[in-house]
Amino acid sequence: MAENQSLMQVTDKVLSPDRVITGARLSEGEYKLLYQQSIQDPEGFWGRIASEELVWEKKWDQVLEWNYPNYRWFTNARMNITVNCLDRHVQAGKRHNLAYIWVGEDGQEKKISYGELLDRVCRLGNALRAMGIKKGDTVTIYMPLMLEQMVAMLACARIGAVHSVVYGGFSAPALRLRIEAAQSRVVITSSWTRRRGKKINLKSVVDEAIDGLSVVEKVIVAQREGDDYELLPNEVDFQDVLRAYPKTCVPESMDSEDPLFILYTSGTTGKPKGVLHTCGGYNVFTHYTAKYVFDLHEDDLFWCTADPGWVTGHSYIVYGPLSNGATSLMSEGSPDYPDPSRWWKLVERFGVNVFYTAPTAVRMFMKHGEKYCEQADLSSLRILGSVGEPINPEAWQWYHKNIGKGRCTIVDTWWQTETGGHMITTLPSVMQKPGKAGLPMFGIEPMVVDKSGNPVPANTVGHLVIKKPWPSALRTCWGESERFEQYWNSMPGFYYAGDLATCDEDGYFMILGRADDVLSVSGHRIGTAEVESALVSHPSVAEAAVIGKPHDVKGESIKGFVILKTGHNPSDSLKDNIRTHIRRELGALAMPDELEFVDGLPKTRSGKIMRRVLKAKELGMPLGDTSTLEE
Ligand code: WTA
Repeated sequence: MAENQSLMQVTDKVLSPDRVITGARLSEGEYKLLYQQSIQDPEGFWGRIASEELVWEKKWDQVLEWNYPNYRWFTNARMNITVNCLDRHVQAGKRHNLAYIWVGEDGQEKKISYGELLDRVCRLGNALRAMGIKKGDTVTIYMPLMLEQMVAMLACARIGAVHSVVYGGFSAPALRLRIEAAQSRVVITSSWTRRRGKKINLKSVVDEAIDGLSVVEKVIVAQREGDDYELLPNEVDFQDVLRAYPKTCVPESMDSEDPLFILYTSGTTGKPKGVLHTCGGYNVFTHYTAKYVFDLHEDDLFWCTADPGWVTGHSYIVYGPLSNGATSLMSEGSPDYPDPSRWWKLVERFGVNVFYTAPTAVRMFMKHGEKYCEQADLSSLRILGSVGEPINPEAWQWYHKNIGKGRCTIVDTWWQTETGGHMITTLPSVMQKPGKAGLPMFGIEPMVVDKSGNPVPANTVGHLVIKKPWPSALRTCWGESERFEQYWNSMPGFYYAGDLATCDEDGYFMILGRADDVLSVSGHRIGTAEVESALVSHPSVAEAAVIGKPHDVKGESIKGFVILKTGHNPSDSLKDNIRTHIRRELGALAMPDELEFVDGLPKTRSGKIMRRVLKAKELGMPLGDTSTLEE
């Protein structure tokens, strides 16, 4: 594959293997044995895990029912994920164990026990029911990282409502699109969040997003310290609601395959897709991966630095850790504000044992220099995790040496919104190969294939596919089953991940990046098509194309090429104006770092923009196959 020659060089830079034994639950031998069992008899394997690890109201008739490309796990079983995440721990005498420690950017701290969390979830669940929200209805949650956000998600799950969490960095039009697509009658939000010392108003974004949107009947607003504004007639205060409803709420009896949540994510077209996860399989898989990948124990303090606006937060701040009865730390605000020692001081202050972040954050700390992490005692750390993009060898080494002090294992976890949980990652006690995500999770059979779906030789770049469905595989795309089917039809017989990868002689996978037009900017997934549609919605833009450029901190930065409409002249102020327009349309996360005005764009004869050619030109690389390029 000529297109990937530059990526092949990455393979050569991989560091030597690293054997760090942490005394984790599963040894290397046990992993291998269990993995074999999980592949030979996936149904037996997952059936046993589901029975041993979780509480069910009624057991399943069949572990897996697979009518290609559709699959159902734990058929006809009944359960409620909040019972596994909350009630069973409280009933086991752990009412006072901490579920979360929250730290605000200004240093404010709040703690919530499993008992308190259950009470609040029940109160809000009752309130939602009283508002007419029933099983199967959707609720959109647009909140910063705060305890009320977890309460909101779990309250939906308690009553069988399908939550759709929208990251608080998305703009009003992006939020509106997601509320409309999900048809949410209730939106839960907060008044503001704080970033780099500044208050960012979230409620006004909701106001704009729902203006004239008749589907939204109620907005629940979690007001924050110092707020004193009058609620609008369609608004209710989060805390008032909690006070008004009782602290017990019968959990909705859910079929294993009933929807749990939708999460909108970027694809190759302009419109985000609503990835749907269901209750039973998702609970089993996130519970199990959280337990073994992070070797989570009840007395561990786990810190996943993600935001629940993304899948990492869903699976490894909310459902996975709670199902295991663990305690999680979370911190609102920027990692390097007021200065880059903030995160490390929190690790020391609370004694964090397992720390999970994205390579972009590691690279940012690298840039700031070691002196900030040297100010803190990091000896409580045992396992470090990485997610969201390939961790380049330099960042791996820095993380291992300066944060892990050479003692901690790094688990590099490859997975996606669609997969629900970790798919490829080397468990803590298994030999790590730095720079490689590593070995498959139990029950997962990844392969690297060529464009026709044939396996490629070891160490050759190809497309990453998965052979069979796993318990937390997406079930559909909300209202768009044809988009779901593309995952299983692009490479018939396989789940097509959309990533390029290699696999070595020992079966270790290395992920090289996306094969399609999806970018990873600071670990956030952004579709080039989404940014392009936002660009062409600017009154002066006729046509646009977007590429990702390598960036030393963000992984990729966005560059847009713009053809102006006749009568509009290129200028720096117009560039600023267009960039601001993108922020308004999509959010700051999608704002191009660079814009260039051009007279034409490279296209195929059928009129498709060849972003690959634009990118090669931009980076001074060979243009590759240009036979379809229109002159
Ligand atoms: C990328 C995030 C390399 C990949 C959990 C994937 C990674 C996309 C890794 C999914 C990793 C995620 N190494 N690449 N450890 N983890 N990716 O849906 O391109 O936001 O397809 O889920 O992130 O992004 P998503």
